[in-house]
Amino acid sequence: MKAGAGLVSALALFLLMGAVFTQRVRPKKPTRRPATTRKPSVPKPAAPAQPEPVEPTDFPPPILGPPSMYPDCPRECLCSPSYPNSLNCENRNIRVIPVIPFRTHYLYLQNNYISEVTAEAFSNATEVRWINLANNRIHQINKQVFEKIPELLYLYAQGNQLKEVPSGLPASLEQLRLGRNRISKIPAGSFNKMGNLTLLDLYNNQLSDNDLGRNTFRDLASLMQLNLARNNLKKMPAGVPTGLIQLFLDRNNIDDIPKDYFKDFTKLAFVRLNRNQLSDKGVPKAVFNVSTLLDLQLSHNQLASVPLFSSHLEHLHLNHNSIESINGTLICPFSLQEDLSDLSLVPKLRYLRLDGNHLSPPIPLDVIMCFRHLRSIVL
Ligand SMILES: *[C@@H]1O[C@H](CO)[C@@H](O)[C@H](O)[C@H]1NC(C)=O
Ligand SMILES: *[C@@H]1O[C@H](CO)[C@@H](O)[C@H](O)[C@H]1NC(C)=O
Ligand SMILES: *[C@@H]1O[C@H](CO)[C@@H](O)[C@H](O)[C@H]1NC(C)=O
Ligand SMILES: *[C@@H]1O[C@H](CO)[C@@H](O)[C@H](O)[C@H]1NC(C)=O
Repeated sequence: MKAGAGLVSALALFLLMGAVFTQRVRPKKPTRRPATTRKPSVPKPAAPAQPEPVEPTDFPPPILGPPSMYPDCPRECLCSPSYPNSLNCENRNIRVIPVIPFRTHYLYLQNNYISEVTAEAFSNATEVRWINLANNRIHQINKQVFEKIPELLYLYAQGNQLKEVPSGLPASLEQLRLGRNRISKIPAGSFNKMGNLTLLDLYNNQLSDNDLGRNTFRDLASLMQLNLARNNLKKMPAGVPTGLIQLFLDRNNIDDIPKDYFKDFTKLAFVRLNRNQLSDKGVPKAVFNVSTLLDLQLSHNQLASVPLFSSHLEHLHLNHNSIESINGTLICPFSLQEDLSDLSLVPKLRYLRLDGNHLSPPIPLDVIMCFRHLRSIVL
């Protein structure tokens, strides 16, 4: 023991000495420099200093692509003969969108320094179906842009500086990603007539309850995925299309769910409400008793009891709440007295997270008796 401790302290000492030693070396360097600069007869160092930036900006200059067989290929972009309908202009330090050739269907402009999207570049780009503008500095997408591209299906503009949902979005859109912007306004009618939109991602913006009117999502009859996580919502959004499959509302301040909120949904399978302010008071006992639900996430809230859920639910996240006890008889979606040989009645729950609560093992017997498909329970 003693020898070991001795070795450790010797090692520590050695390391300490090393640190002192390297620190002592450092000051030597600066002392040398004045010695050389003292000589006035050396004009060299001044000239080859940092090259002056060509533009008054701290962005690096655009990267030009290789020469292209297409005369209309913008110099900053790649036009591959194997994919004549794709225009690859991503990761090129572009500030201004170049003129988009007519043949372009898929337009990749992500990871650049674009600050505004104007119609000029799109005057001949009527065939564009997909645009990826993610991770730029866009604060404005001019409405006229969308008049040029009436067949647009996917618009990805996440990771920009938009303050509101762009106006004039085409009715043809199927996917709209506007996450990680600064959106605090959805102008009335923004999503009108978008009957083909299946995905709407508004994650990580600054939306509050007043910005989501009862009619905001009214026309989105095909919507399957709605992501409103990381906003400033205190209430569940109203008027959400009832054909939705996936609803993400994590990291808001929601403290209350109306009793019949999920009643009219016919396909809802994935609901995430992690990191909100939900307590038993704001969660009506049977609000999650929705037979289509497969995955329910309620972690990092203030629930004191396990809410009721349907026998079809497969994944349940209740970690980091205030649950002190769990009564398997009470939460079992069917009566334990029933004939358990009928496997179709057995609840489908496979994965249950309960860590970060005030529970301690063992898992109550009635929980094990009820949830026979449980493969994993995290306490
Ligand atoms: C627009 O596209 C057509 C067809 O490819 C082409 O003939 C024409 O020159 C283009 N106009 C401009 C302004 O690029
Ligand atoms: C919606 O999709 C259908 C089927 O693909 C298509 O016929 C229709 O034109 C689309 N609507 C709009 C507004 O683009
Ligand atoms: C849950 O829903 C099922 C089917 O819709 C229904 O039969 C059952 O009574 C409900 N349970 C509770 C506690 O509301
Ligand atoms: C669980 O709930 C049932 C039904 O309300 C009740 O009869 C039973 O005593 C409870 N079990 C425990 C351990 O509290």
